[in-house]
Amino acid sequence: MEDFSKAQGHWILARMGKKVLRPGGKELTQKLVAALNVSAKDHITEFAPGLGYTASLALNAGPASYIGVDADEKAVAFLQKNIKGSNVRFELGNAAHTGIAGASRDKVFGEAMLTMHADHRKTEIIKEAHRILKKGGLYAIHELGLQNADETLKAEIQKDLALAIKVNARPLAIAEWSALLEKEGFAVKQTFTNSMHLLEPGRIIKDEGFFRTLKIGLNILLHPAAGKRIVQMRRTFKKHQQHMNAVVIIAEKQS
Ligand SMILES: C[S@@+](CC[C@H](N)C(=O)[O-])C[C@H]1O[C@@H](n2cnc3c(N)ncnc32)[C@H](O)[C@@H]1O
Repeated sequence: MEDFSKAQGHWILARMGKKVLRPGGKELTQKLVAALNVSAKDHITEFAPGLGYTASLALNAGPASYIGVDADEKAVAFLQKNIKGSNVRFELGNAAHTGIAGASRDKVFGEAMLTMHADHRKTEIIKEAHRILKKGGLYAIHELGLQNADETLKAEIQKDLALAIKVNARPLAIAEWSALLEKEGFAVKQTFTNSMHLLEPGRIIKDEGFFRTLKIGLNILLHPAAGKRIVQMRRTFKKHQQHMNAVVIIAEKQS
């Protein structure tokens, strides 16, 4: 029996059929992929491919190789079954310790996965991206941002998010995300932002399409306990919508 009252928010949304689980939606993901400009010469790695939307987009560019590392066994099994290719590999593992050879990748990217870790864990993952990238290689992130939030408000947002999504989410201001990357040897090349409208009807239809949105709605009606949690998440996102956004940063390994 599934316990929707205790489950993590992204798991509930995925269970209801939601495929796009990153804060800036497909729109910001498409900007991230375009900015990476993947070519046939590139060896690329994705941290936390989840359900594989970005993996498919990046693979359309025909990279030399792709390795996706996700910590969720079910996600990896799903990806291995659904996305195949001779140069494509999905591995179960922690993005902070991938086992991938040092200085072997041209591009690394990850979405909606650093936010859910404490700052020292974010740094471990950023260090790993740096380790496996070649000099001049690109690291792209797509995460939850904060805007015009002082320390008191930041703490309140973190507390409200923890209660609503049952994950100790720690969004950061764009300057803080940039500083974390710069501290580990990256230079920020480009940034993009979008509103944090993950659970707004307009964004859901844009991300999922009309029929999938109907299906998600029906699933929620059939699972009232999940519906209750989703209403609570949406209320929290709405309460803080002036102070939260979605952030994409494209950074280059310096040395
Ligand atoms: C919110 S989902 C985002 C998934 C996907 N990137 C997306 O945007 O749709 C979180 C995913 O991140 C994965 N994840 C979180 N921390 C991770 C880590 N340190 N290493 C590998 N995967 C991680 C989880 O297993 C889960 O599949």
